[in-house]
Amino acid sequence: MTTAILSALPEEQSGLVAALQQPRRSERAGRVFWQGQLHGRPVVLALSGIGKVAAATTAGALIEGFGVQRIVFTGVAGGVGDGVQVGDLVVAQDYLQHDMDASPLFPRWELPGYARTRLACDAPLSALLLIAASAGLKSAGVVFEAHNAARPPRVHQGLVASGDRFVATAQESHQLRARLAAAGHEVLAVEMEGAAVAQVCLDYGIPFAAVRTVSDRADDDAHVDFLQFVQTVASRYADHVVQHLLPLL
Ligand code: ADE
Repeated sequence: MTTAILSALPEEQSGLVAALQQPRRSERAGRVFWQGQLHGRPVVLALSGIGKVAAATTAGALIEGFGVQRIVFTGVAGGVGDGVQVGDLVVAQDYLQHDMDASPLFPRWELPGYARTRLACDAPLSALLLIAASAGLKSAGVVFEAHNAARPPRVHQGLVASGDRFVATAQESHQLRARLAAAGHEVLAVEMEGAAVAQVCLDYGIPFAAVRTVSDRADDDAHVDFLQFVQTVASRYADHVVQHLLPLL
């Protein structure tokens, strides 16, 4: 069974490409795909692109063009839930699109044509990803003092919200979280792609799981924290989590 490892950032992908056995590079839809073996498992590596449409195109190409049978996403996210700190990992249990609004035709956040707001990740695959995320966090050995955290990094599992916005003010982050919470959706983190890939995987009936490293708190410092974090920590986490996941598949 071929697994797609979809990375949000080149920094996250480079270690995986370097470790790929019998690597084969190809291009499709203006994107680069790497096929090969990683830890003895057939994989295709790709960059998601930024935003929901870019990520959906990449996911479609992986499924239609490369026949992948499951997709695992690694990336970064802004932490919005209580206690979701920079350096923590969030394994998605389900996703919603926080910028979906077809009201009054459909309830706010509902996906037209799907009769639902939330898209569940594959439970068995997510359970393995949760194990790999905990193991990866330990083996990556990232020094948490580096990002001023009060405690060592932690793994969370829960709802992640995607939208075509980099959330970069405390006001927007609080508002987004409070509005969703009032409708019963307690969001742990925000990012820009996962819900789109979850929707494509639902359409094709293939398992999807995602892990996000919290790079910022989606507040007024988000852009500074994000850039620093991506360069220093994100790539290391992604490598370690994938290394632990593949043998479990
Ligand atoms: N990915 C990482 N941080 C983010 C943020 N603050 N908003 C949206 N996507 C993100």
